[in-house]
Amino acid sequence: MNAVETNRLLLRPWREEDGVELQRLFNDAAVRGERNLPPDRIARLAEGSLRQWRVNGFGPWAAIDKATGSWIGRVGLDELDDWPGADKIEVGFELHKAWWGRGLATEGALAALEFGFEQHSLQCIISVTAAAHAAARRVMEKAGLTYRGTHYWMNPEVPVVWYAIDRAAWKASKSEANTL
Ligand SMILES: CC(C)(COP(=O)(O)OP(=O)(O)OC[C@H]1O[C@@H](n2cnc3c(N)ncnc32)[C@H](O)[C@@H]1OP(=O)(O)O)[C@@H](O)C(=O)NCCC(=O)NCCS
Repeated sequence: MNAVETNRLLLRPWREEDGVELQRLFNDAAVRGERNLPPDRIARLAEGSLRQWRVNGFGPWAAIDKATGSWIGRVGLDELDDWPGADKIEVGFELHKAWWGRGLATEGALAALEFGFEQHSLQCIISVTAAAHAAARRVMEKAGLTYRGTHYWMNPEVPVVWYAIDRAAWKASKSEANTL
């Protein structure tokens, strides 16, 4: 099952037509943040999302709000080819601003962890963001990832932090949740 439903989200594999939505999403400076994302780079991100599904059998999802059918963002497992660490599969999340602040990124991130560990036997899932990006760091923490270090990556002026959760920690958090 490559599409996943959470309480509020339909998370479905990336499609070619989602490229147009991704351009809309990153056209918003609030979503883009410090990242340099001209249209050709956004197009490559969209193509890369498709390619991952083809090659790896998993990749980023398009996130659809179940109640309205709205396309609200890109969430899920994403391979960071040039990340310097050994584990390169991250959980990523980018939502249109109108949908922020409702716990949706965390809901999607938790579904991505379950998908990666249960369906694809991943051993470790990371997440990377600008050190100053408090909201993204909070989503990582709420999803159970822990801080692992700070690097300069891509942009020599913007430090990034990386977080991770391994399979054993994820299993332990699941069984703890089940006994509460
Ligand atoms: C980061 C992003 C995905 C968060 O989505 P979201 O659905 O609002 O996230 P959630 O509601 O699940 O959780 C956000 C948490 O960050 C907290 N938060 C939000 N803004 C914050 C800030 N400026 N400082 C500290 N915490 C902040 C929220 O209070 C919430 O934590 P809480 O539940 O403990 O109160 C969303 O803001 C986004 O799409 N931003 C643009 C794209 C982006 O930067 N993505 C990350 C790239 S690495």
